[in-house]
Amino acid sequence: MTPTGTLIVIAKEPVAGRVKTRLQSEFTPREAAALARASLVDTLNTVRAAPAARRVLVLEGRPGPWLPPGFEVIRQRGDGLDERLAAAFEDSFDGSPMLLVGMDTPQLPAELLGFNWPGYDAVLGLTEDGGYWCLGLREPDDQALIGVPMSTDHTGRDQLMRLEKRGKRVLQLPTLRDMDTPWDAAAIAAEYPALRMSRLFRRLEHTAHPAMLFEQALGGTARVVATGIDGRTLPSLSELDRWQSPADEVDRLALSRCEGPVLDIGCGPGRIVTALAEQGIPALGVDVSPQAISLTTSRGAVALQRPVQNRLPAEGRWGSVVLMDGNIGIGGDPADLLRRCAELVRPNGLVLVEVDPDDDLDDTAPIVLRSSSGRRSTPLPWARIGSRTLLRHARAAALHPIEDWRTPHRAFLTLRRTA
Ligand SMILES: C[S@@+](CC[C@H](N)C(=O)[O-])C[C@H]1O[C@@H](n2cnc3c(N)ncnc32)[C@H](O)[C@@H]1O
Repeated sequence: MTPTGTLIVIAKEPVAGRVKTRLQSEFTPREAAALARASLVDTLNTVRAAPAARRVLVLEGRPGPWLPPGFEVIRQRGDGLDERLAAAFEDSFDGSPMLLVGMDTPQLPAELLGFNWPGYDAVLGLTEDGGYWCLGLREPDDQALIGVPMSTDHTGRDQLMRLEKRGKRVLQLPTLRDMDTPWDAAAIAAEYPALRMSRLFRRLEHTAHPAMLFEQALGGTARVVATGIDGRTLPSLSELDRWQSPADEVDRLALSRCEGPVLDIGCGPGRIVTALAEQGIPALGVDVSPQAISLTTSRGAVALQRPVQNRLPAEGRWGSVVLMDGNIGIGGDPADLLRRCAELVRPNGLVLVEVDPDDDLDDTAPIVLRSSSGRRSTPLPWARIGSRTLLRHARAAALHPIEDWRTPHRAFLTLRRTA
């Protein structure tokens, strides 16, 4: 039997920053766009596999190499999504029934994409979040679409009511989950592991850029812990809550040792530089994370987005350089970082280092950051060292210990640069 009907996919070109922005709480704009693209390709492949006389892609943007053969491409037109949907039906109509789907349900089954609706005028498939993933009409009908509020948790229900108000008998298809948030993507990937979207999701889940997870932790969009490659939690690096809070008693005790001006390496959200500024001590924070810099500056302190390894202002003239919160681990080579600190301070300047409370610890294995949503970073060069190990490296960097002090949970060493 010759297939009848027109299958329509309404989609946006998967351009970073313009699609799946809600995935960006967990993924970079490029990663979110790659997931959108994979979801679109899954959808287009299923639509190709379903029997239909024609297949039309109603697109915002331009087609790319992701487009499989067999689709007519037409441009979206209209203002809001309701107008664009109405126009998609109008522009695709050739006298036969039409079934339109979006690009957010890559798991849609080809069996549901038929035109066998005896006794019905329309078809509607709702989504779990209250929207809908497919709408079928026998002919275009602007009045059935224009003015239905889009992207709400009652869009699907409102659409159904509108269709019924227009006198249409509506066949309801099974409800599907659409991929809006990282949690949706994770759920779809777990249930439909063979999808292109799912395969990409699994790959991205385990290869997040560490800086991205630092960003999330600092922005409060996910809880992030640091672990060894083996998954063991590293307590001294899992204190993001403390970094977000104002400096505490122990921080202040540490900072009372500082001689200004002070450079805080890996300043995070600016707890230390803010406390110093409040004491009238000029201080600059340095961090690689844009989120860290904006949080620090929003606290009224000064910070620069730059890796410590790059050229910094006033090299060789800082009164003190501080490495708090395990920041001696930055870069994974403490000897090298101490040499860099010695280069940054003035000839008799101080380097204040928070070390691990275990004096003999000397762990330079890379770490992995893990977010509460299940994302895992690629290995990040890091080090965790205790005071004895630090002293060894300090000597090699011509930094001399002048004080070693601790509280029940934290340990510090103050070093002075000598000629
Ligand atoms: C252990 S956290 C420090 C927390 C911070 N001291 C606070 O009070 O929030 C490490 C910080 O070092 C930053 N960082 C990592 N690599 C860096 C580098 N090469 N140069 C400067 N900062 C870096 C991270 O972005 C992160 O904010």
